[in-house]
This record gives sequence, C-alpha cells and structure tokens, in this order.
Amino acid sequence: MSHKPVLIAPSILASDFSRLGEEVAAIDKAGADWIHLDVMDGHFVPNISFGPDVIKAMRPHSKKVFDVHLMIAPVDPYLEAFAKAGADIITVHAEAGPHLHRSLQAIRALGKKAGVVINPGTPEHVLEPVLDRIDLILLMSVNPGFGGQAFIPEVLPKLTRVKAMIGNRQIDLEIDGGVTADNAEAIAKAGANVLVAGSAAFKGGPAHYAQNIAAIRAAAQKA
Ligand code: DX5
Ligand code: ZN
Repeated sequence: MSHKPVLIAPSILASDFSRLGEEVAAIDKAGADWIHLDVMDGHFVPNISFGPDVIKAMRPHSKKVFDVHLMIAPVDPYLEAFAKAGADIITVHAEAGPHLHRSLQAIRALGKKAGVVINPGTPEHVLEPVLDRIDLILLMSVNPGFGGQAFIPEVLPKLTRVKAMIGNRQIDLEIDGGVTADNAEAIAKAGANVLVAGSAAFKGGPAHYAQNIAAIRAAAQKA
C-alpha cells in the first residue's frame, strides 16, 4: 500500500487543442495535482502531438507541476528545449535509445526531475541500474501513442514488483493509460501514487473536470 498521498495528473492530450491555455487553467482549477504533457514524434510512437514551443505557451496558465512524458527518439537533442519550455519533470522511455543513463544525467544537469517510463512489454529489470538517478518511474498501462485505450491489467502485478524495487527511495510511481474511477482503487492498491488520466479527466468538457478528478481521487483513496 502506498504511504504517499495519491496525485492525479490529467493528460492535456485529451483536451481541446484549439483552447490549450484555457484547458490548462481549467484542469488546474478543477483540482489537478500535476499537468501531464504527452509529447509524440510520429517515429517512436505512431502519432504526433506537440513540442516544446506549445508547452512554453501553456506554461503561464498554471503553476502546477508540468510532468512532461517524452515519447520521442532520439530524445537527448531535445531535453534542453523541454527544460527551457517549463517542464518540472522530464520522463524518457527506456526503449527510446541506447543511452538511458546519459539522458537521465542530462535531465538532472538541467536542474529538472528525471523520470523513466517503460512500455507494457518491457520488463522492469531495465530500471534497476538507474534507480539512484531518478525521481519518478512511469509504467505504461497502454501501448503509447493514443489516448482512450483500455487499461492493460498485467501492469498491476508489475506495479507491485516495481514498488518493492523502489524500496525506501524517494521515487514517485506513476501509471499512464486507461485510468478511470473504476480501476483507480486497484491501481493505488498495487502501489501507484501518481495517476495519469486523459479521457477520464476531460470527459464531458470543463463543467465536468472537477467531478471527474474527484471521482478518480476518491476511488484511489479507498486503497
Ligand atoms: C498515451 C499517453 C497517455 C494518454 C492517456 O500514449 O501517454 O498519457 O494521454 O490517456 P487515457 O487516460 O485516455 O488512456
Ligand atoms: Zn503520458
């Protein structure tokens, strides 16, 4: 069971891109703990979203933690741009290149928190060598590239194994993909303390954001 309070990180990917600034402000006001920003390059993942200039434009609309999930390869040439754009946490995929350790060093050298993310098909042992270099582990519970996919249940025992691997280290354990108020309790029970939610946070439009977030949080807090 998690000893940290559960944090909800709505993914801007599910927002109305024609009104990004207002969407960031609205989801912040609705109770988001962090703002999750999904960067996709059409190469590492089969979809393209937005890059550092768009994040920079969103930055003045919220003071919350900007949790930047990079689904791009190569990643190293772009780390500085995301740091300058206002990222607080920069998370890179272990599968995105041969130099994970170098990327993590670079993120911390830029003064940002460093995260590692692994896909559903990647075994967690790749995390072991970098455990003392990171602030966050993100486990994908869908194959990355698109919002609105179904949660892959095999990630629940994986969460528990990774939580044990983390031990007493100050590392947040985040889950991303298919999170809803229906599975949030099982997810928190398995060990996650940060829940990303795209569709489940943004469904119904701005009038529903607060109740959407509250429902996910209440379910997670039952754990
Ligand atoms: C998928 C992204 C997710 C996605 C989550 O590649 O990393 O953050 O936006 O969306 P939902 O919650 O709709 O699965
Ligand atoms: Zn994400």
